[in-house]
Amino acid sequence: MSMMEITNVSEYEKLAKERLPKMIYDYYASGAEDQWTLEENRNAFSRILFRPRILIDVSQIDITTKVLGFKISMPIMIAPTAMQKMAHPEGEFATARAASAAGTIMTLSSWATSSVEEVASTGHGIRFFQLYVMRDRNFVAQLVKRAEEAGFRAIVLTVDTPRLGRREDDIKNRFALPPHLTLKNFEELGIGKIDRTDDSGLASYVSSQVDRSLSWKDVKWLQTITKLPILLKGVLTAEDARLAVQAGAAGIIVSNHGARQLDYVPATIMALEEIVKAVQCQIPVFLDGGVRRGTDVFKALALGASGVFIGRPVVFSLAVHGEAGVQKVLQMLRDEFEVTMALSGCRKVEEITRNHVMTEWNTPRICPKL
Ligand code: FNR
Repeated sequence: MSMMEITNVSEYEKLAKERLPKMIYDYYASGAEDQWTLEENRNAFSRILFRPRILIDVSQIDITTKVLGFKISMPIMIAPTAMQKMAHPEGEFATARAASAAGTIMTLSSWATSSVEEVASTGHGIRFFQLYVMRDRNFVAQLVKRAEEAGFRAIVLTVDTPRLGRREDDIKNRFALPPHLTLKNFEELGIGKIDRTDDSGLASYVSSQVDRSLSWKDVKWLQTITKLPILLKGVLTAEDARLAVQAGAAGIIVSNHGARQLDYVPATIMALEEIVKAVQCQIPVFLDGGVRRGTDVFKALALGASGVFIGRPVVFSLAVHGEAGVQKVLQMLRDEFEVTMALSGCRKVEEITRNHVMTEWNTPRICPKL
């Protein structure tokens, strides 16, 4: 299918499925266990409806925003997804270039198939580095330094992965990283390969390399080794949101890891509002999970998010059309979001309010019979 014929983000998933080897498609697409949360991440958006305002001059719409003080073209950013060279030979290079062309932020995964230095070499762009804390703390400290030196602007600390969720397709396929690729950031430590095992190779890798003891004190430790702002990715409760503020986090990403970790956690859009309320505007709250439409972006902002991140749409579009595909996904979301703003009567991102949406947990407003 030519790029012209693609009219929405979800179409890329179907095309990627036709194009990618099964083991790789399954790795990208899967959720954990029953995949209840995977479906719910999408379904929950469809239960939120609009309360559009009319007769507002929307001839000028400004969708730019600021994230951690950085001006970006739209409140839509790229989530960290591992091993992008399995999708396309240019992998993270292509994603970095597409994000920078779109004027938005890319988050590079710790488990990228390109190093922080390589991604930095693609040129200008605001980039965050996602960190998995491995058992070797000296190495973690070195890696954070490398990201800092390569010009990354924030650390996104993933806090929902002390062990890998059970993704049954990966277990069945005995997922392994294709041998011509490595987790580039970890190569020098001799832990750049994900070998075939009797389990999902990634699950085996995580259980031997990731530090399961990670706790709140390590958020403090991380602050002693870097001056970069730290976002905590994977917060799903008000309790943890308050602890995140106390621990000095610069922001929170409400995330269930694309439904790949604990199944039967709520859709992120359902968890968002309790976290926003708990944080009381002290730090920004972001969301990822199931964002496939500009209307989803608007709903997240109406419920208090400062911006959203997208995961799978990036790897699927990368698989089909490389860098141009990622650009296309960003452009489609951008266009949809802009139209949603216009049709809701919002001219600036700050004009999007809680009153622009209704949720099941709003008191039903029944019109008295006249
Ligand atoms: C991820 N995610 C993820 N998160 C993270 O912190 N580090 C990582 O390396 C990865 N890798 C990864 C690979 C793949 C294939 C997927 C689908 C997801 C989670 C990711 O950052 C994000 O939370 C979700 O992808 C958001 O949900 P959607 O947009 O995929 O529905």
